[in-house]
Amino acid sequence: MEQYIIKGGHPLVGEVEIGGAKNAALAILAAAIMTDDTVLIDNIPDVNDVNVLLDAITGIGAKVHRVDRHTVKINGSGIRNYDVEYDYIKKIRASYYLLGALLGKYKRAEVALPGGCNIGSRPIDQHLKGFRALGADVDIEHGKVVAEAEKLVGRHVYFDVVTVGATINVMMAATMAEGITIMENVAKEPHVVDVANFLNSMGANIRGAGTDVIKIRGVHRLHGTEYSVIPDQIEAGTFMFAAAATKGDVTVLNVIPKHLEATIAKLTEIGCEVEEFDDAVRVVSKGDLTSTHVKTLPYPGFPTDMQPQIGVTLALCKGTSTITESIFENRFKYLDELARMGANIKVEGNSATIEGVEQFSGARVSAPDLRAGAALCIAGLATDGITIVDDIIYILRGYERFDEKLRSIGALMEQVSTEKEIQKFTLKVS
Ligand code: UD1
Repeated sequence: MEQYIIKGGHPLVGEVEIGGAKNAALAILAAAIMTDDTVLIDNIPDVNDVNVLLDAITGIGAKVHRVDRHTVKINGSGIRNYDVEYDYIKKIRASYYLLGALLGKYKRAEVALPGGCNIGSRPIDQHLKGFRALGADVDIEHGKVVAEAEKLVGRHVYFDVVTVGATINVMMAATMAEGITIMENVAKEPHVVDVANFLNSMGANIRGAGTDVIKIRGVHRLHGTEYSVIPDQIEAGTFMFAAAATKGDVTVLNVIPKHLEATIAKLTEIGCEVEEFDDAVRVVSKGDLTSTHVKTLPYPGFPTDMQPQIGVTLALCKGTSTITESIFENRFKYLDELARMGANIKVEGNSATIEGVEQFSGARVSAPDLRAGAALCIAGLATDGITIVDDIIYILRGYERFDEKLRSIGALMEQVSTEKEIQKFTLKVS
């Protein structure tokens, strides 16, 4: 089992380069198969979820060429198989984007029901409702979503909940439907806009991404393009909270500060100094940090994917903080682990009340999911002892070279998998 071992208690200081947004890249890679021309995509993060999706795309007959670590060329002209049964695909959430992409282009798709982090019940009813509204027959058979249509026809689609996945998925299918689709109550996340921009660069006609209503005029064919994925606001925010919790001074490079407004607002509220540049943000954390209240909301609200990172930080802030998780019901599991490190937290339903403590103590903890895993690493870095984070497989799904980037700003941590490696690290740092 892969683990991180961390000797904390040092402020993180320096500059760290942020990669492309995982959640944008996954949707864009799926959408890239919607043309028979070659598409070149840059700023792809080299993380496990991306590699699983690329394998699945190869598995249905597309050509995938890794130009370099962050650049890929995809040509979907060879796709003859619309059935995505590749084993690992069940483990990632974004596999559902192959439904929208295949259904849009070929009017047929069979994709294993999506998995992903266990952070809540995660239904996909709004995706299916959208496909059905466009005229597809959609069934769940033997653990797969099977969707087909003679033709897709543009319609009004109203989403009952604001969902990133369904907004992007239905947008992809509607891109190649006949006539006009109007999607209402859509998600406004930066990656919704990024996918719309990508599709438009392939010849789609999508307007309104980033607002509550998206209007799509269907086109018959999409063409090749070259595109660069936006920076990852969650990776950036993770390093920004790591700076806050360790009393550090970290500049995140290659970011779009506008996408980080909710994170910047909270960091400022708790007493960090935050400096914004054109494509960088510096977080300086000095002295005592103070408590605040957070509620996760769809963009531009505070992201649910940043909830564990702020949770760990608030557990070290003076006073009483509260967190309300309004997107996923199962996102407080990391708090049990944090309690083992000495945090003082009470959870009731979807709210957590946090009494700040001065110090955590090192412990062996387990990453319950991707973002929570990263947050527990932040806790370890802020702790004066040794922390071992188990199950980092989750972290590797979504963070590229996480330990290496943290080491570059002063973290003492290593990826280990044996008792011997743990002992070696412990000896080295003591
Ligand atoms: C995506 C992100 C995930 C992020 C989440 C919210 C990917 C691969 N994952 O997940 O990192 O935490 O957005 O920003 O991009 N819902 C329904 N029915 C549906 C779809 C969603 O009820 O058909 C509900 C969900 O249970 C949740 C809310 O809508 O309460 C938002 O979910 P959604 O935005 O769709 O999240 P995901 O696409 O699963």
